[in-house]
Amino acid sequence: MLVTGKELLLDAQKKGYAVGAFNINNMEIVQAIIEAAEETNSPVILQASQGAIKYAGIDYIAALGKTAAKNAKVPVALHLDHGTDFEQVMVCIRHGFTSVMIDGSRFPLEENIAFTKRVVEIAKAVGVSVEAELGKISGTEDHITVNEREATFTDPDEAVRFVDETGVDYLAIAVGTAHGVYKGEPKLDFDRIKAIRDKVKIPLVLHGSSGVPAEALKKAISLGIHKINIDTDLRIAFAEGVKNYVKENPDAIDPRKILAPAKAMMKEKIKEKMEIFGSVNKA
Ligand code: G3H
Ligand code: ZN
Repeated sequence: MLVTGKELLLDAQKKGYAVGAFNINNMEIVQAIIEAAEETNSPVILQASQGAIKYAGIDYIAALGKTAAKNAKVPVALHLDHGTDFEQVMVCIRHGFTSVMIDGSRFPLEENIAFTKRVVEIAKAVGVSVEAELGKISGTEDHITVNEREATFTDPDEAVRFVDETGVDYLAIAVGTAHGVYKGEPKLDFDRIKAIRDKVKIPLVLHGSSGVPAEALKKAISLGIHKINIDTDLRIAFAEGVKNYVKENPDAIDPRKILAPAKAMMKEKIKEKMEIFGSVNKA
């Protein structure tokens, strides 16, 4: 069933686990996520970035997400990932998304507050949950690139002010993760997560979570992270599945056969993440 992001994350916060938010671009990815969620009895978030919306078109991506959620045996939220412009967020709300991220992290604090607040007022009026970002997460997520020099960690006091003034439902924080493939092992600033958690009562969100070791993710969850975003690890599983199949079957021409192993590999990866997040049997 289709539910709001807030509903999922408040339950996760209450019970001490994290909900996986996995990026969607096409039908096979959506099916892999839903099958993994149903087989592990996990709540889940399907998230579409602006890049995914550009690739598939809003009608297709919204229809895929809503159809999957409506037929799923587990609660599913449909979320806009890294919405950077106001109009895009409104279009998603109109198309039935139950959660939106308004990413104003490129702006100075005052502007980020004003930009986020405008979305919160409208989204709340129609029952849609809102995620915002404070601090800057490095790396590339689709069309948005933040280099290491520009990245800034979230300041706990600014987080308090940001949450109070915007009324946002959950907050993405910059604590050492990065979008894309890591060069070395990522080092999370756990003290900072705790410092933010001690001052801010809403669920916290971890971006750039692909490639972060399981133990670090578990520790982050114990300190207040309740939404974990995964994109790159699914891309890797998808690509590996396609490459292996085509290598072993060079004459293959049936897209269903070529994509089946990709879907299976993504599904295994997602189930593995759900175990780490502690969302298994929480649906
Ligand atoms: O918003 C999406 C995520 O932060 C994904 O990051 O590609 O590093 O897993 P990732
Ligand atoms: Zn992200």
